[in-house]
Amino acid sequence: MQYQNDLILRAARGEQTERTPVWLMRQAGRILPEYRAVREKLSGFIELCTTPALAAEVTIQPVDILGVDAAIIFSDILVIPEAMGLPYEMQESKGPFFPKVITSATDIEKLLATDAADHLHYVYDAIELAVKELKGRVPLIGFAGAPFTILAYMIEGQGSKTFSKARRFLYTEPVLAHRLLEKITLATIEYIKRQIKAGAAMYQIFDSWAGVLPPDQYREFSLKYIRQICEAVPDVPRTVFSKGAFFVREDFNNFPCEIVGLDWNMDIAESRKIIGPDKTLQGNMDPCALYLPEDQIRIKTKEMLDAFGTHRHIANLGHGLYPDTEKAKVKYFVDAVKELSIKK
Ligand code: CP3
Repeated sequence: MQYQNDLILRAARGEQTERTPVWLMRQAGRILPEYRAVREKLSGFIELCTTPALAAEVTIQPVDILGVDAAIIFSDILVIPEAMGLPYEMQESKGPFFPKVITSATDIEKLLATDAADHLHYVYDAIELAVKELKGRVPLIGFAGAPFTILAYMIEGQGSKTFSKARRFLYTEPVLAHRLLEKITLATIEYIKRQIKAGAAMYQIFDSWAGVLPPDQYREFSLKYIRQICEAVPDVPRTVFSKGAFFVREDFNNFPCEIVGLDWNMDIAESRKIIGPDKTLQGNMDPCALYLPEDQIRIKTKEMLDAFGTHRHIANLGHGLYPDTEKAKVKYFVDAVKELSIKK
């Protein structure tokens, strides 16, 4: 596929770019009144995810409205547990809730693995539609949750400050935990392959709860499975975003991915030194910095760009946009990256 704007793919491959590409985690969502207008007509978030024409429409909105250099398919990491056999609800202003959770070996045996990907045609259809409607303007990013983060929701049944139920499971039932992680990994590998077949030009693995584990457990129960996914699907640029896992950055030095996501707790120069010169780094503006006035957002943006340098960087936030961020400030940030990163 030929793209009019392929900055993000070139940055991923370590090629020179005229400026730094930029996109934002959670760019499609409640910060956009245009998104809220589509969402209001529906029963809820899940209906939006499972209606390909509408999911494609909100996927493209940030490209039109914010001018970002990539689209990310509008979906959720929790479609994998659903397709494996654990349906979820999205409760208004509370977040995800699973009426059934995993408590035993029998529960795990009942889950689908590779075949779960057969239940996600609405995602592939939405990708095909979005790619068609984008007409090559920018690449589309596919994604999935890291197996550990998915396990955390499957055990916990909802978000948690500590994920102590999920963490207890790793300590007390390590054999079952590995069995569950293997099944999630198999489902995810097939799911990402099909997203690529539908038109995703790169993919990101979100390990949102990486930061709750100690380093040895993070390597054993999370990185091992992310590595299996990246090794099984090497066809397009791969991004790993292990939120909060500053303690394993050295492992990315020699990891089968092109891009490593940084959160805002991770010092940029130190991360570059630890991760080495061969990866593209993505991030890492604090989403709360977007509450500042525009002139100060500009200063923060410049500081971030200077610290990353002009090579092998994809500008983003250190985590998803918060829904109460002003749309004008988000647009200001995107424009500031574009303007301040132009190479003279
Ligand atoms: O980034 C994008 O614009 C693409 C879409 C996207 C969503 N979720 C849409 C969404 C992506 C990439 C995700 C990933 C996701 N989902 C993660 C990993 C990234 C991260 O934030 O750490 C996680 C942990 C989830 C699980 C999830 N989904 C939670 C905890 C919540 C509730 C919190 C919230 O923001 O409301 C969701 C809901 C969700 N996923 C919304 C959106 C736009 C808000 C729902 C709504 O519109 O009412």
